[in-house]
Amino acid sequence: MSRIISFAWLLLCAAPATAQTGLNKKTERAVDSVLRLMTLDEKIGQMNQYNGPWSATGPLTNDGNLLDQVKSGKVGSMLNVTGVKRTRELQELALQSRLKIPLLFGQDVIHGYRTIFPLPLAEAASWDLAAMEASARVAAKEASAAGIHWTFAPMLDISRDPRWGRVMEGAGEDTYLGSLIATARVKGFQGKGFGDTSAVMACAKHFVAYGAAEGGRDYNTVDMSMRRLHEVYLPPFKAAADAGVATFMNSFNDLNGIPATGSKYLQRDLLKGAWKFNGFMVSDWGSIGEMINHGYAKDNREAAMLAANAGSDMDMESRSYTKELATLVKEGKVKMSVIDDAVRRILRKKMEMGLFANPYKYADLKREQDNWDNPEHRKIARDIAQKSMVLLKNEGSVLPLSTKTSSIALIGPFVKAKSDHLGFWSYDWPDDTARISSIWEAVSRKMGGDSKLLYAKGAAITGDDRSGFAEAIEKAGKAEIVILTVGEARDMSGEAKSRSSLQLPGVQEELVKAIVALGKPTVVLISAGRPLIFNWTADHAPAILYTWWLGTEGGNAIADVLFGDYNPSGRLPMSFPRAEGQIPIYYNHYNTGRPAMHDSDKFYRSAYTDLSIYPKYPFGYGLSYTQFEYSPVSLSAATLRKGQTLRASVTLTNKGKVAGKETVQLYIRDLSGSVVRPVKELKGFQQLTLAAGESRKISFDITVEDLRFYNEQLQYIWEPGAFKLYIGKDAAHNNEAAFEVLQ
Ligand code: BGC
Repeated sequence: MSRIISFAWLLLCAAPATAQTGLNKKTERAVDSVLRLMTLDEKIGQMNQYNGPWSATGPLTNDGNLLDQVKSGKVGSMLNVTGVKRTRELQELALQSRLKIPLLFGQDVIHGYRTIFPLPLAEAASWDLAAMEASARVAAKEASAAGIHWTFAPMLDISRDPRWGRVMEGAGEDTYLGSLIATARVKGFQGKGFGDTSAVMACAKHFVAYGAAEGGRDYNTVDMSMRRLHEVYLPPFKAAADAGVATFMNSFNDLNGIPATGSKYLQRDLLKGAWKFNGFMVSDWGSIGEMINHGYAKDNREAAMLAANAGSDMDMESRSYTKELATLVKEGKVKMSVIDDAVRRILRKKMEMGLFANPYKYADLKREQDNWDNPEHRKIARDIAQKSMVLLKNEGSVLPLSTKTSSIALIGPFVKAKSDHLGFWSYDWPDDTARISSIWEAVSRKMGGDSKLLYAKGAAITGDDRSGFAEAIEKAGKAEIVILTVGEARDMSGEAKSRSSLQLPGVQEELVKAIVALGKPTVVLISAGRPLIFNWTADHAPAILYTWWLGTEGGNAIADVLFGDYNPSGRLPMSFPRAEGQIPIYYNHYNTGRPAMHDSDKFYRSAYTDLSIYPKYPFGYGLSYTQFEYSPVSLSAATLRKGQTLRASVTLTNKGKVAGKETVQLYIRDLSGSVVRPVKELKGFQQLTLAAGESRKISFDITVEDLRFYNEQLQYIWEPGAFKLYIGKDAAHNNEAAFEVLQ
């Protein structure tokens, strides 16, 4: 062990893991002691992140012998290197460098590692923050046991455009819900704190406004007011920073003409300045070099200069830093203090993770094995998979099904699917076929011995082959109940998966028509990574369950919901459009001077002449096997002043025959302000389970702090005036009350 490492280690024995805001003096001294010994090249090496030689998640830059570069201290971090064996081997190489500074291994552990959880958007539909924290916790345990130190998650991009393929990776359209989910996920990944071997560093990405890409086309331009940026897109990132997130990743898009990667305002002034973020900023894959394509940098040298000065600390895969930073420092175009600041931030995290003390801390074969097939993890995955499904329709109470049903026909391209359940950004393991239950297998296990199960694929996900229709119609015709699975393929939503059409792909909707025409009790299961458009199905199929992509336990969880072992409780985290032409459609829009209030409004309304003004399904929507009734809203007072609390209450009654979980949602509207305010904003929600026939009073406490917004000068203020408050089951169905805020 070198002198430097032992010195750092001694200091760190006494140093607890730090929180975001308070720097630990001992850690800082240890970091400085290393920094003082580093040459410029070694410092630049720390700012450089390489992809491993096994798999890639972006376009590779091959230059020279990767392993030699690791050995000579030219690489500070690697991505896409997993498993104790590989991470150990590479760490051994890094420890052959002069200063023996350990590598950081980063990876896209987006919704699970060995145990795959529902897509982040699907999890968001659970509205269950504790369950989302638990899912991130398991992901961190499994990933850290496989030698990974750092996950490139959570993705915090608010998006109002389901054409954008990456909506699958976020929390949907709402800032309030998205901010709470950001906190839960950061807490889950980082667990007890850096240095605990079951914790990974989290990464708030993509900073910022990537989800607002024009036309929903990935990587596209974003042009928006600063007020909208602060009000809608930044809060989840601020929440992550406040929760102590270790790192940020910048985004591919330009924001108002400046690529986010080169934005000094975003990275230095806001994040590291105003928010006092003490972690580091990694670029997105190649985004430093891509500033040349944007037309913002004339060459790699200028790109490196702009990114470093703006506060991008680590270069993921563009090589601009290794190639150009040394010259830029010599020419005085990048100050040594900029380099030192970036390296200090990176070393700080390596220290906090305990890597200087023990570079192999996360390379423990036994722990890797112990976490390989952990039944407890699968239980947690099944729990959140159940909670993520959204029941969109259940006419005639087709669902839940009885296990005594004489015969069920399972039709569609997903019935026997296995790894398709995993969705985009997930890992395929060689034993997945044995580990993952298909819907077919899971339903078979639920059914009594005398029941008959029939199967026909009917159609593929894409293509126009209708030759399987006849068999599907025949099998469905013989069954008492039909379960029909349709949707997107696993890789149809995700990065670079924008789609101009959100209809069910291929001939799937035709298949639905052919089957529904039989008039049988039919349940349609829709697998997708985004809100799809399926108007005919929505209007004609008796029952629809939106199952997203649910991960390793998807098949089992779907069967649990079909047979009523779990009463569905998911609520949509995005509005579902009825046509692509309605996009962007989101519940918290502004009113115009001529708002469209009803479909019957004929003249001069802000709407299309050929479309309803309503989404197909509103934000917050979801049914249960029971029915809930809301009483009118009662308020503790008609007015609210600074320092006071207004209590809004409703009584919720379960009017059905089974217990069920409701997500009671609170929305507020500021009726007139110094700037235009949204027609409604989510300000709170509570989940509660009521037995059949049970009633319970639910209250929300509101203060003026809940009413703040950004005014024209970007001050975060509240204003006196008239407000409306709504409590109900979703953004469109609620009971209202009025109150006034007094100065
Ligand atoms: C994505 C990031 C991801 C990175 C590394 C990029 O293309 O935008 O979200 O973390 O690749 O895989």
